[in-house]
Amino acid sequence: MTAPILLFGGNGQVGWELRRALAPLGVVRALERGDADLADGGALRRFVRHERPSLIVNAAAYTAVDRAENDAELALAVNAKAPGILAEEAKRLDIALVHYSTDYVFDGTAGRPYTEDDDPAPLGVYGESKMAGERAVADSGCAHLILRTSWVYSLRGANFLLTVRRLSGELEELRIVDDQYGAPTWSRMIAEATAAVLARCGAPKATGILAERGGLYHLTASGKTSWHGFAEAIVDWLRKTRQPVRCKRIRPIPTSEYPTPAKRPANSLLDGTKLFETFDVALPDWREQLNLCLEG
Ligand SMILES: NC(=O)c1ccc[n+]([C@@H]2O[C@H](COP(=O)([O-])OP(=O)(O)OC[C@H]3O[C@@H](n4cnc5c(N)ncnc54)[C@H](OP(=O)(O)O)[C@@H]3O)[C@@H](O)[C@H]2O)c1
Repeated sequence: MTAPILLFGGNGQVGWELRRALAPLGVVRALERGDADLADGGALRRFVRHERPSLIVNAAAYTAVDRAENDAELALAVNAKAPGILAEEAKRLDIALVHYSTDYVFDGTAGRPYTEDDDPAPLGVYGESKMAGERAVADSGCAHLILRTSWVYSLRGANFLLTVRRLSGELEELRIVDDQYGAPTWSRMIAEATAAVLARCGAPKATGILAERGGLYHLTASGKTSWHGFAEAIVDWLRKTRQPVRCKRIRPIPTSEYPTPAKRPANSLLDGTKLFETFDVALPDWREQLNLCLEG
C-alpha cells in the first residue's frame, strides 16, 4: 500500500482545505487532535514511526494568540516542540515536512513588507512559540517548506470574517482597528498554493527538490489593508448581496482603544517575491480572494 501523506490539523482553517488540495498528490490521512495530540511529544513520535508517511504536512497549531500569554507551556509544546519532533522524524524517514508559520514572528515596526531575510522579533508568546517552531524545523536538517502566512480566514472555524459577519447583523456600529496593516488570506488559497508548490517538487516524494530549494517562504494575499478596511469590504459585500445587515457605521479606532493581552504587530505585510521567483506561485489580491470566498 502507498505510504500516506500525514496531515496534522485536518480540522483547522488551512488543514480542512488541505484535505482536498493535497488529494491529487497522494492518499491523505487527515488527523485531528483525537488521532494525534501534538502536546504529547512521545506519542507523536511513536505515531509517525508507526505510520511511515511519504510526506508530513503540519497545519496544526496553538493559534489562540491572547490565551497563549498565560499558557506558554502548552503553546510551546504544540508550536515549537511538536514541529521539531515532526522534523526529526521526517529526517529519519528521508521525507519532506511542510509547516506553517506567521507574521506574528515580527514586531511590525518595519516600514515595508517583511522578507524572509528579516530577523524575527515576536511581541508575544504565540509569536515566540512559532519562531521557535520555525527554528526547530530548520535546524533538524530535514527537507522542508516553512510557509509564513497572515490574517487567515475561511467560512469555517473562528476568524475575523465570521465575527464581522455576525456582529454586522447584530450591532448598528462596529469599532474596528485601523492602524494595523496586513493582507487577509483565504485558507483555501494557502492550501492550493501549498499543493501547487508541492506538485512542482514532485510530491509526495519531494525530498530531493526541497533539500535544494526548500526553506522559509512568505505566502500571503497580495495588496494591503487594515482590519477596518477588511471589515468594510466584508460588510459592503453583505449589503451588495442583500444579506441582513444592521450595521450602519464602521468606526475606525486606534489599537490603543482595543487593548488585548497579546500585542499585535502594526505592520503584518509579508513580501512574497521569493516564493514567486522560486516556484512561480503567487496569491491574488486580498479583495479578489475575499469575493471568491464569500461567493462560496
Ligand atoms: N489563523 C491565522 O490568522 C494565522 C495567521 C498566520 C499564520 N497562521 C498559521 O497557519 C497555520 C494554520 O492555522 P489555522 O488558521 O488553520 O489554525 P486553526 O484554524 O486554529 O486550526 C489549528 C488546528 O490545530 C489543531 N490543534 C491545536 N492544538 C492541537 C494539539 N495539541 N494536537 C493536535 N491538533 C491541535 C486544532 O484542533 P482542534 O480543532 O481540535 O482545536 C485545529 O484543528 C498555523 O500554523 C498557524 O500558526 C494562522
